[in-house]
Amino acid sequence: MEHIKLNPKTIFKNIIADFPILKNNNLTYLDSAASAQKPYQVINCIKDIYSNSYANVHRGVYSLSQVATDQYEDSREVVKSFINAKKLSEIIFVRGATEAINLVAEIIGVASLNEGDEIILSRLEHHSNIVPWQIVCKKTGAIIKVAEADDNGNISLETIKELINKNTKIISITHISNAIGTVVPVKEICKEAKKQGIITLIDGCQAVPQMPVDVQDIGCDFYVFSGHKTYGPSGVGVLYGREELLSEAPPYQSGGDMIDKVSFAKTTYADLPSKYEAGTPNIVGVIGLGEALKWMNSIGMDQIYDHSQNLLDEGIKVLSGLEGLKIIGNPYNRGGVISFIYKDFHAHDVGTLLNTYNIAIRTGHHCAQPTMERYKLSTTARASIGIYNSIKDFEVLADGLLKVNKIFNKV
Ligand SMILES: Cc1ncc(COP(=O)(O)O)c(C=O)c1O
Repeated sequence: MEHIKLNPKTIFKNIIADFPILKNNNLTYLDSAASAQKPYQVINCIKDIYSNSYANVHRGVYSLSQVATDQYEDSREVVKSFINAKKLSEIIFVRGATEAINLVAEIIGVASLNEGDEIILSRLEHHSNIVPWQIVCKKTGAIIKVAEADDNGNISLETIKELINKNTKIISITHISNAIGTVVPVKEICKEAKKQGIITLIDGCQAVPQMPVDVQDIGCDFYVFSGHKTYGPSGVGVLYGREELLSEAPPYQSGGDMIDKVSFAKTTYADLPSKYEAGTPNIVGVIGLGEALKWMNSIGMDQIYDHSQNLLDEGIKVLSGLEGLKIIGNPYNRGGVISFIYKDFHAHDVGTLLNTYNIAIRTGHHCAQPTMERYKLSTTARASIGIYNSIKDFEVLADGLLKVNKIFNKV
């Protein structure tokens, strides 16, 4: 697939041209933390496969199946280099981050934890990095310990260290909080965990779309993310897992493709990564995800990060200028997420009224009720940044919020 070569100085002005949904509509889309819009490179890639090269993978001897298999496996190469994994066998395609965490919870948590073992999570986790571990605890008698966030939304290494003891077996923690944007010092946490023989899982859902991620540099055992937040299709995601751990662990789902030999007496399993990819995978989703990551590479992750950080600063300035608007959290490092409350208006009302001006933001608890509880909130409004956003989007949002204020004052 062709990629436009963009001038680094102007790319973010031109980038909107890659997004049909943004080019053709007067839409202010500030909800990329929930799901990112898709560039035409990804849309065309998907259309092209279904039109010209679709077949099942890893099965047929005919050309079409081999082409589809090559494209599918090429995506694995793309993902491997995108997050700098050591080996292809460490990249497992799954349905999304949620499935990836459930998979690790099952093959590591349920399979190896015992009563009294401890799992450290943080206060800032998405529900999908809480509930699977609660189920592990129910099945094994393990216990969850929570690393608290401070008033500004920081999770410190010290807080984690205070929770570690001889029973700690797993630390599963977010890289960037989807609810308030905190960038968690995951590299430092993984270094400490490694010293103490603790397994680490990093939820990279919000990090992979906006900053360069190097799993070897972070030093984690597992890293997960979802395709739909990285400008790729939904229904596909990635589990990175260190080969030593994945090859020792038991299978997760079972069926076709994950086997070596099957008889009624005994089944042996396939090598990695097939061992964890039972059944026909999301073939087109995986190839589309590879295309999305190639497209991000064509822009450059350093530039995407700079753009997100610059816009974050500007967005915070614009929103802070509104009387009665309070931004939640003030962490040392923040990803492209601004969670706020506006006067005493309910976030859902704010979001619904903004929608009448074609402004899309997320409102609610952001699947992070324990985070909301920490800041004595039940909901917030959240504006989050994607590649295609500019300061204009925040100006339109601020203007929309002033209109919301006027409507409430009339009621
Ligand atoms: C930090 C974080 N973790 C996990 C998830 C779950 O991702 P998915 O629903 O794509 O599996 C999300 C989605 O919002 C998220 O933001």
